[in-house]
This record gives sequence, C-alpha cells and structure tokens, in this order.
Amino acid sequence: MTVKIGLLGLGTVGSGLVTILSEQAAKFQSQLGQSVSVKSALVHNLDKKRPGVPGTITLTDQVDDILTDPDIQIIVEVAGGIEPTDQWLKKALENGKAVVTANKDLIASKGQELIALAEEKQLPLRYEAAVAGGIPILTNLDNYYFSDQITGLAGIVNGTTNYILSQMANKGLAYETALKQAQELGFAESDPTNDVAGIDAAYKAIILARTVYGLDLTLEDFHIEGIEAITPFDIEALDQLKMTTKLLFEIRELDDRHYQVQVAPAALSKSNLLASIENETNAIAIESKNLGTSLFAGPGAGGRATAQAVLADIVAIIQGQKQALPSIQKDYQLKQPAKQAHVF
Ligand code: HSE
Repeated sequence: MTVKIGLLGLGTVGSGLVTILSEQAAKFQSQLGQSVSVKSALVHNLDKKRPGVPGTITLTDQVDDILTDPDIQIIVEVAGGIEPTDQWLKKALENGKAVVTANKDLIASKGQELIALAEEKQLPLRYEAAVAGGIPILTNLDNYYFSDQITGLAGIVNGTTNYILSQMANKGLAYETALKQAQELGFAESDPTNDVAGIDAAYKAIILARTVYGLDLTLEDFHIEGIEAITPFDIEALDQLKMTTKLLFEIRELDDRHYQVQVAPAALSKSNLLASIENETNAIAIESKNLGTSLFAGPGAGGRATAQAVLADIVAIIQGQKQALPSIQKDYQLKQPAKQAHVF
C-alpha cells in the first residue's frame, strides 16, 4: 500500500523531505510495509525549474487541488505564515486528512483551535518540527516524560541568536556581521527581528508550555528580552568572569497553579551545561522529579534536520502512534519571573 502525501510548500524543508523519502524508500517498504510518496505539492511559481524534484510529483498553485484530493491521506504544511495557512489546515482536518506541520508561528498562535478540531475529528495533528527542528523534544515530552513530573524547562531554541552570540564571543565578530552570516546560512527568519527580539524563541516556548503544562499562552504573557542590546564589551566582561551569555527561554512550575515564563539573555558560568552549546545548535534542559536534569541538543533549523522531524511525524502517523494532544488547564496564574533566567 502507498501512503500519499500532499505537500503545502516546496522550499528547503519540502525538498529536504522529498530527498529523505527517496533515500529511505526501501526501508519504509520493507520495515513499515508501506511506501510513502508525495503525490502533489503546492508551489507559488509553476514555471520555476526544480531539478531535484521527481516528475512523479504533481505541482499545483491551487491549494484545493491538494486539500480535496481523496487519494491524499496526510497533508504536510511547510509553507509558513499564519494566514491563510490556518485555513488550509482546518480544511485538511475537515476533509478527514491527518496533518503534519513545521509551522511554529501558526501552532503557537492558533494551535488551540487546530488541536480542538483535530480532537473533534479524531485525526492526528503533529508538529515536532515546530520546536527546535532537529531535536525530538515534543515526542519525548509526550511519551517518555509522561510518567515523570516536569518542574521546569529552559534552553536555547533560536539558532540565529545563539550563532550571533557565539560568533561575537569566539571570533570577535560584530553583531551585524554575525547576523548577516546567520541570514546567509539560512537560519534567520525572513524578518530577523523575530529572532533577535526573542519572539521566535517565545513562540517555541508557548508550544512547549502547552505541551507540558496545558498553558494557553500568548506572546503578551511573556517577559521577552532579545539580544539587540548586548555589546562586545558585555561579552568581553563576562569572558573575564569565565561566563558566557545565551538567549534562554524558561518555563518554571512554581506549584500546580503558578508558573513563570520568559525569554531573556542569561549570563551562564562556562561550566553550565547550556554554556557549551555553540552556533546554531539548540538545546533544551528539562528538570524533572525522576531524572533530575536531562539535556537534549541538536540542530534547530536547516532543511534536512527539519524535514527529518516532519518525516518522523509521518512515520508516527503511519504506525498509528497514540498522541496525547494537550488539554488546556482552566485555572492557573503566571508570576512575574526573575530578571535573569534561572538555569538548572
Ligand atoms: N529562525 C529560527 C532559528 C529557525 O534561528 O532558530 C528555526 O526555527
């Protein structure tokens, strides 16, 4: 049997997915007992040459060609943006299709509506790639940590700012030069304000807080500070003290009704677990009752790493893995966090 995918977006992640699917085709067939193929893909420009894309994939600029195709079981959204993407994914679920998305802005801002619809329709809605692309964090929070009690999470979930801070500290690069390099390397958002102002990290923290604690947060709930004000002088002064600075998100459970959430630069001792995470690498530290501190690190962006997370979600759907979609707590309060992120 063949599982047919409708791909919304054929940029870096979409084409990465097509590449990995063809590399893994034999393994999927022999070990999953299924072949998985992209039937059609939504593109802006039908005339653009796409040498790496097999001719078996039908390209269309009409989203309904994909969303209403009865042959397609899974819609994969890698187009980005909040609108009209939210309408596309609602329509996909209405039409009985499982959904996989890499879209953090959408899942952070409108995730609750989509989750409610997916629950009503009893369809999978997976978004592993939306938080720290190449780190399998949501799957682990849902499965492995389900039986533990998480008391806090903190870490680096924005590759652009970590790259800038690392390059400033290790190579003495100016902020603007390091940002330009991050843009050229493809980590930065099209408008890098979201990266450097901490908003991209806050979107990811919103998804993590919903997953772990059922918090229904918006950007306004966060204390958010970016890295724009950090100077080479600050970095040099910290270095003298054997410290380094990282843009960290932090979600802390104070008790079962009170939480603190923030995104802010933190000064870390160089011996801290997170201090050694350099360049575009992301890392998430989890503090839990049974494990103490555990750390996940890996690539947070990039076509192949993000496509890998998308494909892992597709495999989970094919395998029928049970998914605990987050249920929102009704009665909780946020407390003003400390100015400096506390790190385990
Ligand atoms: N702009 C993001 C980053 C891309 O720098 O981490 C991955 O979400």
